Amino acid sequence: MRKVIILGAAGHIARLAAKQLISETDDQLTLFVRHPKKLTDVNEKRETIVVGDVNNETELTAALKGQDIVYANLGPDNTDQMVPHIVKAMHTAGLKRLIWISTLGVFNEVPGKFGEWNKQMLNPSGYLPTQSKAAEEIEASDLDYTIVRPNWLTDKNEVDYETTGRHDAMKGTEVSRQSVADYVVKLLQNPTKDVRTSVGLNKPHTDGDKPSFY
Ligand SMILES: NC(=O)c1ccc[n+]([C@@H]2O[C@H](COP(=O)([O-])OP(=O)(O)OC[C@H]3O[C@@H](n4cnc5c(N)ncnc54)[C@H](OP(=O)(O)O)[C@@H]3O)[C@@H](O)[C@H]2O)c1
Repeated sequence: MRKVIILGAAGHIARLAAKQLISETDDQLTLFVRHPKKLTDVNEKRETIVVGDVNNETELTAALKGQDIVYANLGPDNTDQMVPHIVKAMHTAGLKRLIWISTLGVFNEVPGKFGEWNKQMLNPSGYLPTQSKAAEEIEASDLDYTIVRPNWLTDKNEVDYETTGRHDAMKGTEVSRQSVADYVVKLLQNPTKDVRTSVGLNKPHTDGDKPSFY
């Protein structure tokens, strides 16, 4: 049994991952959230809610103490401002392992017409630069991190994904939140997997100029 803290635990992918962890492991989960009312389906035996903002280092450090592993499902905006607080609080709490949900395009790795479309769509003056900076900050840290780069997210009820490496071109145009949750659960169950690297996630055979739902 490990103690897993989920930052931004009311997020969509985070809830899917938590449900899968509850059914497939005996891990104890701490749900770190700003707005606890958003959590309507908590398993009280396995999930403990802690209210806080990751930018409040005192709240964050207190929540991290005694945990084994950190899964951050934060966003969409200003993630670059969150990372220094998380790194510092993890140092103070003596934690090393961080799973960080990022986005496609942070390493300028999306090729062709889809890459151009993606850059235009992801708020070129806001979201994408801050997500890139957050990824750089994590890479510059001494943490045992995995930076997860999901493709465009869908709510399809399917687990169907392949992975690409830190220096590979992103493949495909979409992936389901359920697939991202599944990958996160695999990392949490094998914490030495994909350490100090970044992994892209996509649904196979979805190459194109934009996602099918656009
Ligand atoms: N949409 C796409 O196609 C796409 C593609 C690739 C990657 N992504 C990234 O994937 C991430 C996860 O996806 P998702 O669907 O699970 O997102 P989500 O439902 O928006 O969850 C993000 C969570 O972060 C929390 N949060 C934000 N700032 C916080 C802070 N300062 N302190 C504590 N919690 C904070 C939010 O809390 P509140 O509920 O309090 O606001 C929210 O619950 C997104 O944020 C996005 O950056 C998206």
